[in-house]
Amino acid sequence: MKADVLVVGSGIAGCAAALAAAREGADVLVITKATEPEDAASDWAQGGIAVTQSAPEEFAADIRRASDGTADPEAVETLVSESRAVVEDVLLDTLEVEFDAVGDGTDADADADTFDLAREAGHSSRRILHVDASTGAHVLRPFLQHLSARDGVRIVEDAMALDLLTEEGTVRGATVLADGEVEPVFAGATVLATGGIGDCYARSTNPTGATGDGVAMAALAGATVSDMQYVQFHPTAYDPRTDPRADDGAQPFLVSEAVRGEGAVLRDADGRRFMPDVHEDAELAPRDVVARAVSRARDRTGRVVLDVSDLDFREEFPDLAALCDDCGVDLDAGIPVAPSEHFLCGGVAVDDRGRTSLSRLFAAGECARTGVHGANRLASTSLLEGLVWGVRAGETAADRGRGEAETVEYAPPRDSDPALPDAFADTKFDRLGRTMDEFVGIERAPDGLDTARARLRRLKGEVDAYARTRVSRSIYELRNACVSSLLVARAAADAPSAGCHSLVDPDEREGGERDEGGEDSDDPGQGVTPSADD
Ligand code: SIN
Repeated sequence: MKADVLVVGSGIAGCAAALAAAREGADVLVITKATEPEDAASDWAQGGIAVTQSAPEEFAADIRRASDGTADPEAVETLVSESRAVVEDVLLDTLEVEFDAVGDGTDADADADTFDLAREAGHSSRRILHVDASTGAHVLRPFLQHLSARDGVRIVEDAMALDLLTEEGTVRGATVLADGEVEPVFAGATVLATGGIGDCYARSTNPTGATGDGVAMAALAGATVSDMQYVQFHPTAYDPRTDPRADDGAQPFLVSEAVRGEGAVLRDADGRRFMPDVHEDAELAPRDVVARAVSRARDRTGRVVLDVSDLDFREEFPDLAALCDDCGVDLDAGIPVAPSEHFLCGGVAVDDRGRTSLSRLFAAGECARTGVHGANRLASTSLLEGLVWGVRAGETAADRGRGEAETVEYAPPRDSDPALPDAFADTKFDRLGRTMDEFVGIERAPDGLDTARARLRRLKGEVDAYARTRVSRSIYELRNACVSSLLVARAAADAPSAGCHSLVDPDEREGGERDEGGEDSDDPGQGVTPSADD
């Protein structure tokens, strides 16, 4: 197969890149592992999309503050200044997304008059467009429908990009596994939009299949990867393990920050509200601060609940109330919560047009490190970042790739083995998740990181040995998850604490505050050119 632009992934960033490239007249091929919209993390996004209102400088300041002072100011400026236009163009005019609305046409602030703007942790004002607490699904589904009907865009589902095809440092497409066959796709430009690394951890808010594919493929091809130590944990995922009423088989799910934005508070097992002692913004402190405090309160007292008694939870969050009912949660007793892996702030290093360090290779969305988030992402900026960088990467990739797809030599595929026992991969994923949770989680000790790296290297060696003779989706996902995990562990061992990367002495754990005034830091991250061997 050939295409001007190959897009790998079908979340919001992949969709935005495909739309933008097609608008520029490129022939676009989207390859996605997904078979349903909910296979992409974008579909699971609850909170919403932060947009610039009357005070863009305040929005930018909130992003920088949440990032512990490490966000790249130019990247933040790009995101903030483009937010309004891209939301209007793509989401309102093209996809006709119906965000929750209020107002009677009399408010001087046009947005506040039109939309029911939400507030989340770290935001100094209400600026978040949303649809109940299931914004992602209301954006991604119409996006996929729009692209499916659009000339110039082909979408191949249930297909996995395995490796980038490179020729003298230039990326020329990728090998793809579909229907049990490995085939090359030659492309003038390739955009990675493969999402995050949730499967590297035992507990994540991501859908299954978030195996760091784009990060690993890019790293193995020699692209620069940065800020991998910044793995964000969401403070409030429902925790069936500490819910005495949890139904059998109840699964963790995200409880949006918007719930705290509307007044819910966190209490430990003794009923004590602990966040006011940790940060002046209490439950609305930056996400890394709240996540650490929840983790420590759980360790101290055994359990943390989100107390929703001060809001009309059922009225304001009907989707979440339904999820709680499905799991048997007693809302009067509060929702038992625990931090859970949520978002990778680092990734494949890109510039303001989504260009990576390799020629003809672009990245957007969670797999890309744009610099916007620095060490910790502000709530409800991930869909926005996927949109802004997806559009920019798609336009630039179209420019670079139109009429440029070329056949190149590539290593012939090994036999694919659809019958490969998934049990092999399941066992290894289990080991991987336990290692990452124990040693590369919300707080990391230097000797724990050494242990993790040794274990991860061993694991990757076993996976590589298997993969040398057989090709299957689960083996490649495992390889990618191992590579991504090694990159996280290595970056974490080499970097000082900032934002969601917290190095600790295990004997000296206290409240959950940030260590020192990170606002002064001028280092947005360390470039890493990784190898397959760490
Ligand atoms: C949430 O709704 O709490 C998640 C929003 C986000 O991750 O930006």
